[in-house]
Amino acid sequence: MSTRLDGKVALVTGSSSGIGAATARALSRKGATVVLNSSSSAPAGQALAAELGDATYVMADISDETQARELVEASARRNGRLDILVNNAGVTVKIPHREIDEVTGAVWAKILGVNLLGTWNVTAAAIPYLRAAARDQQGGSVVVNVSSLAGIRPTGSSIPYGVSKAAVNHMTLMLANVLGPEIRVNAVAPGLVDTPWTAGWDDERSLVHSRAPLKSSAQPEDVAEVIVGLVHSYQVTGEVVMVDGGLHLR
Ligand SMILES: NC(=O)c1ccc[n+]([C@@H]2O[C@H](COP(=O)([O-])OP(=O)(O)OC[C@H]3O[C@@H](n4cnc5c(N)ncnc54)[C@H](OP(=O)(O)O)[C@@H]3O)[C@@H](O)[C@H]2O)c1
Repeated sequence: MSTRLDGKVALVTGSSSGIGAATARALSRKGATVVLNSSSSAPAGQALAAELGDATYVMADISDETQARELVEASARRNGRLDILVNNAGVTVKIPHREIDEVTGAVWAKILGVNLLGTWNVTAAAIPYLRAAARDQQGGSVVVNVSSLAGIRPTGSSIPYGVSKAAVNHMTLMLANVLGPEIRVNAVAPGLVDTPWTAGWDDERSLVHSRAPLKSSAQPEDVAEVIVGLVHSYQVTGEVVMVDGGLHLR
């Protein structure tokens, strides 16, 4: 089995930094043509596109249904097809779980709007293109959602964030159940990853380093490696793979 992705087109949402940027680089190294995206950080996205060569950057807020559809259509139109979708874009608001009063409707709307509805918006728009691309390739097309350990264990940056990722996990299973055999749908659930998102999270990082069996937090490249592995795992669909150094065991 070849693990090369030459001729395939991959859209990675939220790929101007962190896990999304590492995933875009990893897919590009394998030969895929990558479409990069973010909702505001255009210079970073454009710089990465230039670094990767045949990549393009499209600014779009995935929580907006119209922008999400235009993002998918632009990706497929510019490259003639869409084989791989990595739903990585996400947001959070850091709120201690006991501080119930801080969890306003605006917080729920922001987090669910991007993490859950945004993931749905992009996936729903991509399905016809992914189906079409699946016809002529081994293993079909693939969606990989970037979830979180917070969607599996009652942990993470806030209750709305954990709930949004739990919903993404369930959506992964439900879509996998109906989109085969053309499209596989899987998710990765990272624990703590060293990205700009967690730059000031020193207490959480110390805790993970002392508690997790592997005594370390992940690098964005560690998560990207698992995402690329799922792209190649032709018999795997409906799986949520934890990438947390074993933290969930403690
Ligand atoms: N870091 C961790 O410890 C960790 C752990 C578990 C799961 N995760 C998940 O991993 C994913 C990536 O996180 P990261 O740590 O790599 O964060 P990051 O470095 O802050 O990157 C987040 C990316 O998402 C983009 N984005 C945010 N809102 C968007 C929107 N509405 N539409 C399109 N793009 C949007 C950001 O660009 P703009 O701001 O310009 O839009 C940026 O490119 C998230 O889904 C997060 O929940 C992270």
